[in-house]
Amino acid sequence: MEHNIDKIYAQALNEIEHTTSIEAVQDLNVKYLGRKGIITRFLRNISRLPADERPQAGRRANEIKQQIESACHQKLAILEKDGPDFVKRIDVSLPGRVCARGTMHPITQITQQICDIFSRMGFEVVEGPEVETDYYNFEALNFPKNHPARDMQDTFFISDDIVLRTHTSPTQPRVMEKQQPPVRIIAPGKVYRCDSDLTHTPMFHQVEGLLVDENISFGDLKGTLTFFVHQMFDPDTRLRFRPSFFPFTEPSAEVDIQCVSCRGDGCRICSHTGWLEILGAGMVHPAVFEKVGYDTSRYTGFAFGMGVERIAMLKYRVDDIRKFFDNDIRFLNQF
Ligand code: FA5
Repeated sequence: MEHNIDKIYAQALNEIEHTTSIEAVQDLNVKYLGRKGIITRFLRNISRLPADERPQAGRRANEIKQQIESACHQKLAILEKDGPDFVKRIDVSLPGRVCARGTMHPITQITQQICDIFSRMGFEVVEGPEVETDYYNFEALNFPKNHPARDMQDTFFISDDIVLRTHTSPTQPRVMEKQQPPVRIIAPGKVYRCDSDLTHTPMFHQVEGLLVDENISFGDLKGTLTFFVHQMFDPDTRLRFRPSFFPFTEPSAEVDIQCVSCRGDGCRICSHTGWLEILGAGMVHPAVFEKVGYDTSRYTGFAFGMGVERIAMLKYRVDDIRKFFDNDIRFLNQF
């Protein structure tokens, strides 16, 4: 009889272990411990055993009853924690869950493409600080203190002498102070202006370019920028150089490219003008060279500063610059 109940016990534990649902455990509880359950019946029949066997058989049956109860509780706790039918739900034939992988932000991608094109022309990539002194942001670039030209920049001042740089041009004097010509650098980075609409944001990106050597002319500037635009866009993309003014270049120009989206007919991206301004440029002003100690009778140079978002807008036909910074994953996923 005892041998028999141990067999039943082993079978009960085995069945409990292999259950995969809460209902199945409850059924086993009834099967073994219910009013008509196997263990309950066994206990009831103990009175039929010889008197000397009853105490031990009763003790053993009660022990087994408690252990089956406890095994049922433990199994229920596991299934409640991991959810019903946990074991059954693992379908090894299903494809694994794919982890979402990030991609580079479109502005980073365009910045890299710009740097690649100029690197192929022998320009070295350098960086400058975003929190800049008034000296490098303005004065070294021939904006004297209180000069009205400073009004062109909607500046975020941190203190009287510290600003968030309004352009990447401060990298020009920073590099020239440390290095004698020839100089051939580009400097990508963030810049800040109090400005916001369809084509302007308070933080945006520029890539500065500076080339200084003997016999550098405006023709070299035009050739370099034309090569760049034809590499970045289609080789038949039209450019136009408009006379402009920057205190640190003379002569100065603003460069527009024909709208890649409407091919010059006019659309929302180009504010219906057919053209979009992408950069400012010019021949480095001798006053800037003098401040860094360059020999102005020997060296000339050109510089340019382009808006990365404008180039990205044209390249990807985006009609509102602010979309680049909304961080809407549905927008960013497309690049
Ligand atoms: C400058 O910032 C000069 N430092 C460029 C320069 C460098 C001229 C070297 C001469 C020599 P400008 O303010 O025009 O120039 O800005 C250059 C480009 O930045 C613009 O052509 C435009 O593409 C982009 N840009 C200007 N303001 C914004 C803005 N708020 N949001 C997005 N892009 C802008």
